[in-house]
Amino acid sequence: MLIRVLGSAAGGGFPQWNCGCDNCRGLRDGTIRAQARTQECVAVSADGSGGSVLLNCSPEIRGQIESAPTLHPRAPRHSPISAILLTNGDLDHCLGLLSLRESHRLIVYATDPVERGFTRGNVLYRTLERFPGQVRWHILKTGREEDIVDVDGRATGLTVHAVVVPGKAPLHLEGERPADPEDNVGFRIREARTDRVLAYLSGVASVTDAVRQAIAGAHAVFFDGTFWSGDELPALGLGTKRAEEMAHMPVGGRTGSLAQLADARAGRRIYIHINNTNPMLREDSPERAAVAAAGWEVARDGMEVKI
Ligand code: MLT
Ligand code: MN
Ligand code: ZN
Repeated sequence: MLIRVLGSAAGGGFPQWNCGCDNCRGLRDGTIRAQARTQECVAVSADGSGGSVLLNCSPEIRGQIESAPTLHPRAPRHSPISAILLTNGDLDHCLGLLSLRESHRLIVYATDPVERGFTRGNVLYRTLERFPGQVRWHILKTGREEDIVDVDGRATGLTVHAVVVPGKAPLHLEGERPADPEDNVGFRIREARTDRVLAYLSGVASVTDAVRQAIAGAHAVFFDGTFWSGDELPALGLGTKRAEEMAHMPVGGRTGSLAQLADARAGRRIYIHINNTNPMLREDSPERAAVAAAGWEVARDGMEVKI
């Protein structure tokens, strides 16, 4: 299985257009050791298959596709993108769907509340209803493994097992309807031929048994690396909410994922969905050293992981 990181940042990207924090300013000035990042999106393909499955579809999808030759068209009208899977309905994960509106048939895998949140009452969604069957939604049921097929039903060589992960409804739907456990999921993606497994959990509010099971034995794990500390935004004067209130468990500290997952049995362990304020973005920071010492990596755009 080949995993290519198209975008590794949280919503807003790095640097973020309206952010002058030390990281964003330092990156623009060239005074910190760090690399720019676009918003989270990952392409996965089974060995030898021409197609790729996208995990999430960021607002920067056009440039992300251009950055990856394997995602370029191979005919006057064509895309090697076989399917798109959504972990939740946050705009940094699904706004890019509206950019794929050039009259191309798509299949999108999402849970029922994520599908409804994107399609219902959304007048802009009509741009993906330009002709009958433009988008086929495949409603993911959690807790079971299913084949991932393309819009014509052809195998991709990959299966998905969606797992309920503590999270929340997207900000724009808060107060519109009650929260649903299926608002946020993680994936175990398995390559059918080789049994290689990717665990993909880019938004995690806390570690539950289901989260541990999703990770166990995976050959690669991508995990929520949004914030280093719970009070990261308030401490910088950039927001009022703690990481936990935004449904992101921090990486550092006693309750953070490095400590909570210290005993996780898995192959490569990689943080993704990294907010621009996170000190581990700086390649020479003590936080980055702590991540590396614990055997974790920090995703960057263009990174390829073969498992
Ligand atoms: C999140 O990851 O918490 C969301 O992307 C926040 C947002 O939508 O701004
Ligand atoms: Mn996000
Ligand atoms: Zn910033």
